[in-house]
Amino acid sequence: MSIAEIFDTMDYGHAPESRDLAVKWLSDHREKFDLFIDGAWTKPMSKKWFESINPATAQKLSKIATANEQDVDKAVNAARNAQKNWQAIGGHARARHLYALARAIQRNARLLAVLESLDNGKPVRETRDIDIPLVARHFYHHAGWAQLQDQEFSNFEPMGVIGQIIPWNFPLLMLAWKIAPAIAAGNTVVLKPAEYTSLTALCFAEICKDAGLPDGVINIITGDGQTGEYLVTHSDVNKIAFTGSTEVGRRIRKATAGSGKHLTLELGGKSPFIVFDDADLDSAVEGVVDAIWFNQGQVCCAGSRLLLQEGIADKMIAKLRTRMKNLRIGDPLDKSIDMGAIVAPVQVKAIEKLVKIGLKEGAQMWQPDIDMPNKGSFYPPTLFTNVQPAATIAQEEIFGPVIVTMTFRTPDEAVQIANNTRYGLAASVWSENINLALDVAPKLDCGVVWVNSTNQFDAACGFGGNRESGYGREGGYEGMLEVLKPTFQASAEQKRKKPLPKAIKPNSLSTRSSLDRTAKLYIGGKQTRPDSGYSLPVLSASGQKIGEVGHGNRKDIRNAVEAARKGTAWTKANSHGRAQVLYYLAENLDARRQEFAERLQTSTGASSKLSLDEVDASLSRLFSYAAWADKYESAVHSPPMRGVTLAMKEPIGTIGIICPNENPLLGLISLAGPALAMGNRIILIPSEQHPLTATDLYQVFDTSDVPAGAFNIITGYRDELALTLAEHDDVKSVWYFGSKDGSARVETASTGNMKRTWVNNGQDRDWFNPIQGEGREFLRHATQIKNIWIPYGE
Ligand code: NAI
Repeated sequence: MSIAEIFDTMDYGHAPESRDLAVKWLSDHREKFDLFIDGAWTKPMSKKWFESINPATAQKLSKIATANEQDVDKAVNAARNAQKNWQAIGGHARARHLYALARAIQRNARLLAVLESLDNGKPVRETRDIDIPLVARHFYHHAGWAQLQDQEFSNFEPMGVIGQIIPWNFPLLMLAWKIAPAIAAGNTVVLKPAEYTSLTALCFAEICKDAGLPDGVINIITGDGQTGEYLVTHSDVNKIAFTGSTEVGRRIRKATAGSGKHLTLELGGKSPFIVFDDADLDSAVEGVVDAIWFNQGQVCCAGSRLLLQEGIADKMIAKLRTRMKNLRIGDPLDKSIDMGAIVAPVQVKAIEKLVKIGLKEGAQMWQPDIDMPNKGSFYPPTLFTNVQPAATIAQEEIFGPVIVTMTFRTPDEAVQIANNTRYGLAASVWSENINLALDVAPKLDCGVVWVNSTNQFDAACGFGGNRESGYGREGGYEGMLEVLKPTFQASAEQKRKKPLPKAIKPNSLSTRSSLDRTAKLYIGGKQTRPDSGYSLPVLSASGQKIGEVGHGNRKDIRNAVEAARKGTAWTKANSHGRAQVLYYLAENLDARRQEFAERLQTSTGASSKLSLDEVDASLSRLFSYAAWADKYESAVHSPPMRGVTLAMKEPIGTIGIICPNENPLLGLISLAGPALAMGNRIILIPSEQHPLTATDLYQVFDTSDVPAGAFNIITGYRDELALTLAEHDDVKSVWYFGSKDGSARVETASTGNMKRTWVNNGQDRDWFNPIQGEGREFLRHATQIKNIWIPYGE
């Protein structure tokens, strides 16, 4: 065929990449891999190996060791032994190591790209142009954070040993996302790749060895979910970072509850791809190709729900069908294909199952008539129309090349359908009207929004989700904070200064007759009688009854959550407005300074000086958060593209806050302050032993212009109420400052809607000390970051 003819037909042939390099590497290892522990290949104590298969050909690639409990223990010990030195060598030395790793990855880019494609089935065009360059970029970027660690994270230190569990869809990229920040910060790691795709992780282990990384800093253990579970439950692991299915994420949350292990979860998604009628439709069609057929749709943030504005729906679908007819499916090593293989036969079955359900529920399916390989695990690009927003295929993650289409009329309706899912990972918004796109982006309940683009990633821009897509961010400044802990937490457990009075016993319930003297609950800006009609006596430090408070129950919590849900005025208020209200609160508290101090003195038995100090510290704290309200700012990143990424700090939504028993006023203000300053609505459970300082605050709030629903107080039994908050689906986060057992219960109960939790594991703080009692740590828990990608230029 002549060049002129090629231009005429626009046809192109095969462009196969050689597999030789990868085949040689496998054969150098006799197609059999042990575990990589303490810088050496280590025979598994399990004496078991499993097979890794090329999904495009169904041929065996190699044998991979299965790590059992003792193997995991060995790896964790190696990481523990290496950690002190790794931390001690300092940021600059670590930066040099990460830089060396980045360079080594670039030198081995071809081998890694081919190996990844063979093992996973994804097109080599993607591994070569996207996965591996991003892996190198991640190590470069984090070499930078290691270098700057002393300056930028001076009040933090590494967590210690981090257990990392990753999925099969971006094997080496997920490894880089997990390992680069962790080791940059001075942690050591034990990483378990997914059982379908262990090879590039093992190749990376070898690269680390060659690059001179100290032994034990990175340990790679292979195996299935059982191996993962051993790592999750190992008692000497300080943090678990997991990417994978929501179901396993939920199990990991339960398994780590109460262990004190930090946890970040990057889970599934069902991300909307919203096309407004003024969008550039041809670009949007290419966007859909990248959104759902990139990596065969096996992408947690795949744009799998196509939301089309009614006016352009038919036109867009027609264009999409034409484009789908031109997609090429075939050998992943052929550089001219668009789609490769699905990772394993079991995943093909999972896709088929959901597609069948879609058909059964009445949706219309369309697949182009294109050539399909006759062996291996492949699935054609698939388009569903006539899909109801509540249909199974519109709600469940299919994790394959299947897109479902729905229509909408107005931007509000688009947002409503977009948010109508239990997930909240990403979204794409397509419109030529920047006002519209930037109006819609903040309303989408997810961690990433791509304007007129999709599936963009960069090491400088945090990635992660909301709701059942998990919590925590990977990449950028916020990603570094997920692998560090405040230095003061590392110091020994802080001892209580004096024993607290005994908790109120349930049998001391008083009867209805005493209600009139009872401080009520505070719900939706009103003082409200508790649903139970009962009250609880409050005792002074010397054991005398000094009042009664309402005995709040499950129903009161539900009412408070409902009030908080409606209290959107507070979230919509601008930061200056919120600062004004916080200053006003301080002013009104100051006017009753003496009265509050006396209340504290009677309740807690603290001296009059200490009680006055507590009121003054609370006033100062309110000033701090009034100050922070417009200073905890968002950032603008400059990823390597023509455009910017806005890292927007957004409020979490409704937060349940369980206050500590000690310092009943200062503890409460220290927690309510940052949550309110950032625009959250809160349901607060005050100190169980000293609730009267909290109920005294009602009038202060009433006179300080706090909108109804922003601030709610329920008194009663702390742990009972905490559990109800942790189980409530409309509560997005629970902060718990109580006992170790209570912390565990809150973490376990949080798995319903995968809400965030911040618990103290029974460890007290010195609330007077500004390092422990206020600042960025609190603000960080009060916000979540949404990265909005905005490309520009014609
Ligand atoms: P998975 O969640 O079962 O596996 C992910 C990783 O967790 C693997 O390394 C696995 O060995 C490990 N694992 C499994 N059970 C574990 C346990 N009990 N404790 C600790 N580690 C455990 O995901 P799988 O089976 O590979 O895929 C199933 C579905 O998950 C997919 O169809 C897809 O919907 C979703 N998924 C989502 C991903 C994402 O990036 N959000 C990535 C991969 C899968």
